[in-house]
Amino acid sequence: MVERDKPRLGVAMIGHAFMGRVHSQAWRSASRFFDLPMEPRMRVIVGRDAQRSKQAAQRLGWVESATDWRRVLERKDVDLVDICTPGDTHAEIAEAALAAGKHVLVEKPMANSVAEAQRMTEAAALARARGIHAMVGFTYRRVPALKLAQELISEGRIGEVRQVRAQYLQDWLADETAPLSWRLDKTRAGSGALGDIGAHIVDLTCFLTGQRFAGVSGMLDTLVAERPLQASAAVGGIGSAGIGSSGGTLGGGLGTTVEAPATVEMGPVTVDDAALITARLSSGAPVILEASRFAWGRKNALRIEVSGSRGAVSFDFEDMNVLHYYDATQPARTSGFTRILATEPEHPYLEAWWPPGHGLGYEHGFTHQVVDLVRGIAAGEDPRPSFEDGLHVQQVLEAIQHSSGASHQWTEIHDQERS
Ligand SMILES: NC(=O)c1ccc[n+]([C@@H]2O[C@H](COP(=O)([O-])OP(=O)(O)OC[C@H]3O[C@@H](n4cnc5c(N)ncnc54)[C@H](O)[C@@H]3O)[C@@H](O)[C@H]2O)c1
Repeated sequence: MVERDKPRLGVAMIGHAFMGRVHSQAWRSASRFFDLPMEPRMRVIVGRDAQRSKQAAQRLGWVESATDWRRVLERKDVDLVDICTPGDTHAEIAEAALAAGKHVLVEKPMANSVAEAQRMTEAAALARARGIHAMVGFTYRRVPALKLAQELISEGRIGEVRQVRAQYLQDWLADETAPLSWRLDKTRAGSGALGDIGAHIVDLTCFLTGQRFAGVSGMLDTLVAERPLQASAAVGGIGSAGIGSSGGTLGGGLGTTVEAPATVEMGPVTVDDAALITARLSSGAPVILEASRFAWGRKNALRIEVSGSRGAVSFDFEDMNVLHYYDATQPARTSGFTRILATEPEHPYLEAWWPPGHGLGYEHGFTHQVVDLVRGIAAGEDPRPSFEDGLHVQQVLEAIQHSSGASHQWTEIHDQERS
């Protein structure tokens, strides 16, 4: 079908910083590389500041900008709302968008609490009955090497899943002078490393094994209890935009400029910095998870290894085009992990991209997310991860928080639907 004959899918996106930029890239590129049944139209980007939103629209390829997302939901030319704002806004925007008859893509974690996630899931179920679809942005499911791992496991290539070990490690908070940002504020983010990056490895464990979590024991730690309210020039990283205002150089008398006093205004960190978790899947298989933003030298080390009765798969995002596969049925003399460069046309999503070996990057997972979302909407199906999947992750996160606050007490999760 040529582009002009395809039904249009008008998109509004809320938030235009980190995720806003990556999602814009995905909306720009999806139909340029993949044959989609609908043509996404980047109608309007929404922010809180008119001038910055306008600049974002121009830079990122949106037709218009706006500052009131509620008004945007009234527009007839908007069919889908893409939510790229902090967690405390997700439930309100998603519920209103679904009620207004708009499809929804919401960034992870889906919400800041199980109660919010439950309400959103109920809203999505009502909307589904009217042909409206919703999805959570656990993007790593769409990294080709990880999708390949899921396929190999579901084909039985590692046998029965026996054990999962996963880590998600970053280091942008290891420097104690890194400033406060919304990610360190429980009321805005819900939790710290746990919800920010731990949520991804919880979801990936479900995705790869096809199982849910049955119970957890967790230990959450805040390693630096207070931080400066403003960004220092030296510190970058994901949360480097401070939430405070004071500080910097002060104007002195008679044309001189003096440095601000050494006392820096500080604020409390109200979330965890590191999370250590042991868990069991619905099959009883044991799982060990670690999420930390204090792991010096680890920039985006999402690692996951699944061991089965006949082999294993192993992945590290810092080498994201590669999947390691161990086939335990091979003779011991020549056995070992096979390094699979997941860039062949036979690999998931790769038929649309570059010749073998010309690797993909971080942004491609987001393009694949748009592709699967648009195809799901056109087929009348909720693409995975659905809001039910997102709710399960939220239940796991809350059970870990409960366990950590109760001397690591084993905490069961009573949601045993298949992932
Ligand atoms: N899928 C992933 O791998 C991934 C990676 C990073 C972040 N995230 C998630 O994406 C979401 C956003 O994170 P980010 O890193 O882009 O944050 P960010 O701080 O870079 O951007 C947040 C944006 O939201 C806007 N915003 C905040 N409150 C708003 C409101 N009330 N109304 C309208 N706009 C508002 C801000 O102006 C900003 O443009 C979070 O849920 C985060 O957990 C997902």
